[in-house]
Amino acid sequence: MDFIPEHIIDYAEAHTTPETEVLKNLNRYTYANLLMPRMLSGHLQGRMLSMFSKMIKPTNVLEIGTFTGYSAICLAAGLSDNGEIHSIEVNEELEHLLMRFVKEANLENKFKLHIGEAHAIIPALNKQFDLVFIDADKENYNAYFDLIIDRVVKGGFIIADNVLWSGKVLTIPDKKDVETKALIEFNNKVMNDERVENVLIPVRDGLMVMRKL
Ligand SMILES: C[S@@+](CC[C@H](N)C(=O)[O-])C[C@H]1O[C@@H](n2cnc3c(N)ncnc32)[C@H](O)[C@@H]1O
Repeated sequence: MDFIPEHIIDYAEAHTTPETEVLKNLNRYTYANLLMPRMLSGHLQGRMLSMFSKMIKPTNVLEIGTFTGYSAICLAAGLSDNGEIHSIEVNEELEHLLMRFVKEANLENKFKLHIGEAHAIIPALNKQFDLVFIDADKENYNAYFDLIIDRVVKGGFIIADNVLWSGKVLTIPDKKDVETKALIEFNNKVMNDERVENVLIPVRDGLMVMRKL
């Protein structure tokens, strides 16, 4: 998934603020107990999300794809005093676990979990967002962008994870590979959408950072 050589990543992590104790425990717990732990953002990307959040100082954050709550806790780092993070997760079995870590991070008053399908929940959220993190099912990235673009404030940010998809976006995908196909379409769509300016950062599996114009 990482494009940068391991020793460079190690050096970058060694020269990046460490994870908080809660995030370190959450990271360790996820790798020890859950399937597909690599879905979790991790140290370097997590610190980057926190840094973005602290730069933006958002009042309302939306996350699509909570998993064990790692990126949600990172994205909450810069919330304004009355700020909230809304996070959507389809797998209800994760609720108990992720809420344990959200509480340990003292975020239970700022964190609103929505269990269900993102496409059904997003239209029901009656809010404008300063920061949106898209990190759920890749085949729906285009649909999520369309659902949220009018709900992002002018000057607000959308960040989409995994847009390099281990480099597969540079290949001609197999007909059955709907995820790669969707991510290629998503990257092209963003590039041609005059409502946003964007930068694709090749950190971890690729972050598309978009700013609404
Ligand atoms: C890559 S993981 C999220 C990782 C998390 N953002 C992090 O960095 O720690 C994707 C999550 O999206 C959830 N998901 C997949 N499809 C979804 C959908 N249609 N609606 C809501 N959540 C969905 C999955 O159950 C999974 O937990």
